[in-house]
Amino acid sequence: MTTSTSAPGLKSVIVVGAGPAGLLMSLLLAKQGIPVQLLDSGSTLDRQPRATHYGPPAVYELARAGVVEEVRARGFTPKVVCWRKNDGTYLAGLDGSVLDGAPDRLICLPLDQLGEILHKHIMALPKADLKWNHKVTGLGQDDQKAWVEIETPEGPKRLEAEYVIGCDGANSQVRRSLFGDMNFPGRTWDEQIVATNTYYDFNKFGYEDANFIIDREHWHMASRITNDGLWRVTYGEKPGKTREQLFEELPAKFEAILPGHPKPEQYKVANFSPYKVHQRLAEKMRVGRFLLAADAAHLCNPFGGLGLTGGIVDVGGLFDCLIGIHNGVANDSILDKYDEIRRQKYLELIDPISTENIRRLFDQDPDKAMETDEFLKLCKKTETDEAFSREFQNGVNGIKYDFTQHYLKELENGDFGVGAVAP
Ligand SMILES: Cc1cc2nc3c(=O)[nH]c(=O)nc-3n(C[C@H](O)[C@H](O)[C@H](O)COP(=O)(O)OP(=O)(O)OC[C@H]3O[C@@H](n4cnc5c(N)ncnc54)[C@H](O)[C@@H]3O)c2cc1C
Ligand SMILES: *[C@@H]1O[C@H](CO)[C@@H](O)[C@H](O)[C@H]1NC(C)=O
Repeated sequence: MTTSTSAPGLKSVIVVGAGPAGLLMSLLLAKQGIPVQLLDSGSTLDRQPRATHYGPPAVYELARAGVVEEVRARGFTPKVVCWRKNDGTYLAGLDGSVLDGAPDRLICLPLDQLGEILHKHIMALPKADLKWNHKVTGLGQDDQKAWVEIETPEGPKRLEAEYVIGCDGANSQVRRSLFGDMNFPGRTWDEQIVATNTYYDFNKFGYEDANFIIDREHWHMASRITNDGLWRVTYGEKPGKTREQLFEELPAKFEAILPGHPKPEQYKVANFSPYKVHQRLAEKMRVGRFLLAADAAHLCNPFGGLGLTGGIVDVGGLFDCLIGIHNGVANDSILDKYDEIRRQKYLELIDPISTENIRRLFDQDPDKAMETDEFLKLCKKTETDEAFSREFQNGVNGIKYDFTQHYLKELENGDFGVGAVAP
């Protein structure tokens, strides 16, 4: 029996959650001719101020999905990221332009716009069926199939598929149904954060594209997120304050932290959203026919932009596993590899690095940081050593993993290559 006749060919996949991870997952699968039902409890794309920066490992996946040119054209390629004291003093920085020309260079584009691009591409694919107002409430599986229970405006429904992928975000119902409501191992930071999108002229004060401010009280981040003067300002706050309280205190906070100490009439807040921040990883990312990816599987604080970047890398890896099964070059044991490796990448890289990224801001004396913070010392070194700078900035690629190495059969003359599958 040849591999091609034994190729099972996936006939149905359900993706839960039309956030960036679910949209990308559906796009990749439907492009290969696999029928995908994409379900979301909302009625439209999410507009909250969340991810803005996608690192090289994510950009690599956006390229494979065929959307990277559009994403880069609508967004931009940030140049320098730096660390400062709250009085504006520059401590150290990383100049991203030493990587200019690399196809996977960091991209900045607000999440809702990334979603719009992915959504547009999905709508053009006959194999993808996006259903809004479909809220998953429960699930089950047997030898043949998996299913989800759904609440819809027309009443309850049940849909089945060969595989169900939970991309339903931090409060994932898929994860809770698999492991229990309270079972998402990890921790929540005492500190909370407030994310804003703000129009303010930081350029006037010599700000770089991304600025992290080290201060025990006023730690924050200010980075440019559009070409028309919109900045993301995210600052730390004490726990226990209500949304109303935080909103009321925003003018005093901005006066204390923004360069030039502006009054409210000097800036415009376009978006305001407090968040709790967590470091958490699901017990497993595979249970039989159910898979978890991105925020449904793991959370980290947003400093350093590893959240969705890691989630997009999950999606690319899971796609390679599923397409291997579809093409008959892998059996479902490759999904255990997915579970093992993606959790390992979170535990060994994403969790410790993102933890250091937030601690760096509030948990040290800014006046001693250049003597005691090893990371900042390495940043300093990059300023005079271009080769080291490239190596240092490419370190984030360690979160990538090529699952095609677990295919049962070598790809021969592209016969079983992803590109060779008819849509
Ligand atoms: C302030 C902030 C800044 C950030 N900045 C960055 C950054 O710069 N770079 C980065 O990489 N990451 C960043 N992140 C993290 C990033 O935003 C998240 O990792 C990302 O949005 C997760 O995408 P997702 O698709 O997994 O989940 P989500 O975007 O949360 O999407 C989940 C979807 O599932 C749907 N859903 C939920 N429950 C159900 C259900 N029961 N049934 C059906 N559908 C359901 C929801 O409606 C939603 O559409 C940031 C986060 C925050 C808070
Ligand atoms: C599935 O593939 C793995 C290698 O990835 C192999 O060790 C195993 O024997 C295979 N199982 C079956 C039932 O073919």
